[in-house]
Amino acid sequence: MKFGKILLTFVAVSVFGASVVGMAAEKEPLAPRVPADDMEEAKEWTNPFKPTPENIAKGKELFAGKATCFTCHGNDGRGDGVAGAALDPAPRNFHNPGLKKKSDGEFMYVIKNGIEGTGMISYTPGIVTEEEAALILLYERSLHDVK
Ligand code: HEC
Repeated sequence: MKFGKILLTFVAVSVFGASVVGMAAEKEPLAPRVPADDMEEAKEWTNPFKPTPENIAKGKELFAGKATCFTCHGNDGRGDGVAGAALDPAPRNFHNPGLKKKSDGEFMYVIKNGIEGTGMISYTPGIVTEEEAALILLYERSLHDVK
């Protein structure tokens, strides 16, 4: 079998498989992801940017572009990106009002350190700077109350 055919078969099986099995569920999205020992320090971080429409738009552009968050978290942050379909636990759906209880610092910790044992790896400083991550956070935060 040619490589192209093998690849095509693989894609077909993955797409078929995903539609039969369904996407994995999120795992306790409101439970903390920062290790207890680091929590106090993590919570001290506050976002230097204000959630103005301009800043949220900048964050969205990064989220849906160079930062690659959309590949797993989906174009609209609903946790339904194609690269996230096979992940268990599933990527976070940011349209969840309960997430307002998590602090900006906890989210920033996750963007810097990832979540061990999941598809969420470290994105800062490797892929986006801390400033860019702070703008992305404004966008993610703006979604919590959006149905
Ligand atoms: C390869 C897939 C993937 C990409 C790309 C990705 N994430 Fe995630 N992300 C995940 C998964 C999976 C989880 C949920 C893990 C869990 O439930 O423990 C997650 C969770 C999160 C959380 C939730 C933390 C919490 O406390 O609930 C934040 C915030 C987050 N990601 C931000 C980002 C940002 C910002 C980007 C882009 C810079 C990004 N992610 C890119 C897979 C991804």
